[in-house]
Amino acid sequence: MSQFIIADSLNDLDTVSKELVQKAKDALAHAYAPYSNFMVGAAALLDDGSVITGMNQENAAYPSGLCAERVALFSAYALYPHVKILKIAVTAQKRNEPDLTPATCCGECRQVLLEFENRQQAPIEIVMQSQDGKWVKAPSASSLLPFAFSNASL
Ligand code: THU
Repeated sequence: MSQFIIADSLNDLDTVSKELVQKAKDALAHAYAPYSNFMVGAAALLDDGSVITGMNQENAAYPSGLCAERVALFSAYALYPHVKILKIAVTAQKRNEPDLTPATCCGECRQVLLEFENRQQAPIEIVMQSQDGKWVKAPSASSLLPFAFSNASL
């Protein structure tokens, strides 16, 4: 666990992470989450300083929806295929509640993050709020996926 930074409050994180969390928070306002009412925003910081945001996109055929993180990651690649992703922040809010609610990346998003890391040959930091309300900065997707299945497995 030593490589994880765990902060009691968002204010205790570094400035770049805090700013990225704010952008993820702005993005969740545009979440399309009429089924779960659980709005998620993600913001990816690229190596050239660009920030690409995403928000969950639900669908009446439930499995056809996509998480905020993957919307941001795939958009980033579509727009800037040659630019590395350095960091991603994730935030969530329940509809009709004023404050953020904890949300950590789901397993599928971790797997997609891992693929991006392998493709770009560089780690992606992940900033998110854990269930106890603390803010976690993970150094990479691989740190969140021990014994992962990856291209090396094929
Ligand atoms: N969701 C995300 O966008 N990211 C996550 O990492 C966890 C879950 C979305 C999917 C769905 O639209 C809603 O949150 C409830 O699961």
